[in-house]
Amino acid sequence: MSLLAGFIYRQFIHEPPVPTESYEGRTVIVTGANQGLGLEAVRWMVKLKASRVILACRSLEKGEAAIADICSTTRCPPEKLAVWRLDMASYASVQAFADKVNSELPRLDAIVLNAGVIRRTFHLAEDNEETITTNVVSLALLAFLIHPKLRETHAKFGVTTHLTVTGSELYESASFRERKAPPGKLFERLADKNTLSMDRYDTSKLLVLFFIREFATLYPVDSTGVVINIVAPGFCGSQLGREWDSRAARAATKALARPAEVGARTLVYGASASKDTHGQYLPDCKITQPNRGLAKGKAGEELQKRVWTELKTKLETIRPGVTMA
Ligand SMILES: NC(=O)c1ccc[n+]([C@@H]2O[C@H](COP(=O)([O-])OP(=O)(O)OC[C@H]3O[C@@H](n4cnc5c(N)ncnc54)[C@H](OP(=O)(O)O)[C@@H]3O)[C@@H](O)[C@H]2O)c1
Repeated sequence: MSLLAGFIYRQFIHEPPVPTESYEGRTVIVTGANQGLGLEAVRWMVKLKASRVILACRSLEKGEAAIADICSTTRCPPEKLAVWRLDMASYASVQAFADKVNSELPRLDAIVLNAGVIRRTFHLAEDNEETITTNVVSLALLAFLIHPKLRETHAKFGVTTHLTVTGSELYESASFRERKAPPGKLFERLADKNTLSMDRYDTSKLLVLFFIREFATLYPVDSTGVVINIVAPGFCGSQLGREWDSRAARAATKALARPAEVGARTLVYGASASKDTHGQYLPDCKITQPNRGLAKGKAGEELQKRVWTELKTKLETIRPGVTMA
């Protein structure tokens, strides 16, 4: 199916199924949970009887407002929900958040790495353009820092645990021109102000797809008990395109987008899916080979290896030893 045919099928013909897998007894974290897909994923998890959900948000105020909204629509007791501060644009915040998770939570059954941005103009966050820091580098850092807790929960409680990422079908259209950079310089090129274009978001979703496939290979589910997967929710109504707000953009979203509640079903599915989904790309809750665009074939495999190597080097400079835990 072409990108356009796939889009039409997703947006107008097919809908991800209503999640039914119980979350009873589970402790879950959702990043970027104060609005959009993250908020709706938490609402689903509460309805599916999750014991405890941590909303990881950069604004505690927005997180508390999200909790009030969820409690009023689900009658969930507020004690089941908590907001913890996490700013994915700051490596210090990511590490502080992970330290809190590792020291304060008695168990962690699933984390949905969902927070994401699209920036219209160049903003430096740490040593990268903000989209790359938020959607890729901090996500990978947090995945490495939290994975031991998911393994520990599996070992202590005999349950399968999950690390799920919100990816996007737009990985297919990434042109990732920065890949022409000399060896070892991918991230440096992406941090060059002159390289920022509309392609940046798509590239971030390609990079995170590559990361998750390598990460899942490094930590096989049979030895860790942790399912690692990446979902894609389709085009959904949310605040993601807030920097492009206009009457035309609002009309297009109204005509084409799914409600965030519908797209969020894919996140809820990913975070409770079977072991078969380990290392897999799951648009609309179906295992699908991500063999399009720059992820395709031998060249895709080589590019994936290169991204993995350069990303791991970068993570080691942020927190020495983090990729070896
Ligand atoms: N909507 C779609 O069509 C679509 C399609 C495919 C994939 N996705 C992906 O779905 C995920 C959720 O996006 P959405 O559509 O729900 O958009 P959204 O409504 O803009 O929600 C994004 C969430 O991420 C948070 N966030 C952004 N930067 C952050 C940071 N530095 N630290 C912590 N949290 C941060 C936002 O917090 P603030 O409120 O503080 O900004 C917000 O809670 C993203 O990864 C996005 O790429 C969306």
